[in-house]
Amino acid sequence: MEKNLLEKINQAPEEEPARQYFFMKLAKELVEAKSKEAKRPLTFDVVTFGCQMNARDSEKLVGILEGAGYIKSESEESDFVIYNTCTVRENANLKVYGRLGSLKRVKRRNPHMMIGLCGCMMQESQVVEKIKKSYPFVDLIFGTHNIYKFAELLVYALVNNSMVIDVWKDTDRIVENLPVDRKYSFKSGVNIMFGCNNFCSYCIVPYVRGRERSRNPEDIISEINQLVSDGVKEVMLLGQNVNSYGKNLEYPVTFAELLEKIAAIEGVERIRFMTSHPKDLSDELIRVMGRYPKICNHLHLPLQSGSSKILKDMNRHYTKEEYLLLVDKIRKSVPDISLTTDIIVGYPGETEKDFEQTMDVVRKVRYDSVFTFIYSKRTGTPAAAREEQVPKDVVKDRFNRLLKEVQTISAEQINRFLGTVQEVLVEGVNEQDPSLVTGRMTNNVLVHFPGDVSMIGTFRQVHLETCKGFYYMGKER
Ligand code: SAH
Ligand code: SF4
Ligand code: F3S
Repeated sequence: MEKNLLEKINQAPEEEPARQYFFMKLAKELVEAKSKEAKRPLTFDVVTFGCQMNARDSEKLVGILEGAGYIKSESEESDFVIYNTCTVRENANLKVYGRLGSLKRVKRRNPHMMIGLCGCMMQESQVVEKIKKSYPFVDLIFGTHNIYKFAELLVYALVNNSMVIDVWKDTDRIVENLPVDRKYSFKSGVNIMFGCNNFCSYCIVPYVRGRERSRNPEDIISEINQLVSDGVKEVMLLGQNVNSYGKNLEYPVTFAELLEKIAAIEGVERIRFMTSHPKDLSDELIRVMGRYPKICNHLHLPLQSGSSKILKDMNRHYTKEEYLLLVDKIRKSVPDISLTTDIIVGYPGETEKDFEQTMDVVRKVRYDSVFTFIYSKRTGTPAAAREEQVPKDVVKDRFNRLLKEVQTISAEQINRFLGTVQEVLVEGVNEQDPSLVTGRMTNNVLVHFPGDVSMIGTFRQVHLETCKGFYYMGKER
């Protein structure tokens, strides 16, 4: 490294986020120099895999890359391509390896190109080993705990010819107030907590996202106030188990209390949240959901399995009966609520009888939509060590039967709004037909109707004219 540059780096302030702003400025100088050499502006592309948390993290990456002077492009031929990865199922990992393979060819053609990898997959040491060995052309690797340090890591990657790797095992830090570039002007995710303490037996998230940490309510409120003054109308509160929010704060606050505080903010028109763990869903929360029209009529309540025996083995801390009782309670308090869920098929030891219990819950609850997953063995989780893995063909057959059932039920369920007028927040112009716009109802169902770009980010009263299974065609009233 140049002596001059080293001296500069040594002057970086210790405290955060000032340190990252310092590095962003330095990165900007380096990017400018590179851009002069290339005789064109340098571009970037952030590719996101996985859940809403990752989507929100990616907005932070974009904010920093823009601060460093890169120009956004949606092409993987960009000068800086970064994959924000997911590892919840093996498929997610395979996708990343596949795409890295093709990036290699792109990089060979572009001497300015850099490749970064971050997110949940990078928290697994065997993944990092594999990348070092099989994908040595990658320039930067970091994990979920030090994403706030991206500006600093970017500088190291810009000045180093070899791969820069910085992955932490865990952290108790939450660094606030870094730049963010939101994907939508009118809605935004807001992290209320990080990590997970539940250790469901099949799940890798607690290992790659670390222990549960809640943000202070004041920080959350002030972020939302800022978002509202920027034009945001809908917030999605994010956490792996939002129902356990606030338990470990110095002055504990419940999730229901937090929701009430947010509902009181003028300008916030819609509040969503994800994800609710059934074991921690309180009566207080159910009451609050019924009380505030701003809180969307939608609850994602992952079931995972309908068999109490499997649920016990999964370490979920509820039985089939408790789950069904909870659903009844919610429906009494919030009539017409849209319930959605996640289900895993083929968990080790799942018998036909266990699977029938899952089908039974699906028929009883009648979800508006269900995300169905085939069990995927994750190294290091307790379930991966189980011997009774279910044969692939049996899993496939159960998966198809479940899918058929949930599709039939959800089409019938969604249809219940046909002919009504609903408030829709317009999200964008329809990709297939530019004479239409697309928006969401409070229950998260999509509606397409005639309109134009000027409607984006506004609420419209829309008459639902035809139901197409999981979405509607409508007309503005
Ligand atoms: N925190 C959320 C879920 C995060 S992961 C919750 O507790 O509900 C999202 C979904 O992925 C889970 O609900 C589960 O259905 C699924 N999932 C997690 N690990 C999995 C695995 N090993 N195989 C298949 N699906 C899995
Ligand atoms: Fe995984 Fe369970 Fe935590 Fe959800 S609650 S992230 S499924 S361990
Ligand atoms: Fe995937 Fe990490 Fe989310 S593993 S589901 S991106 S928390």
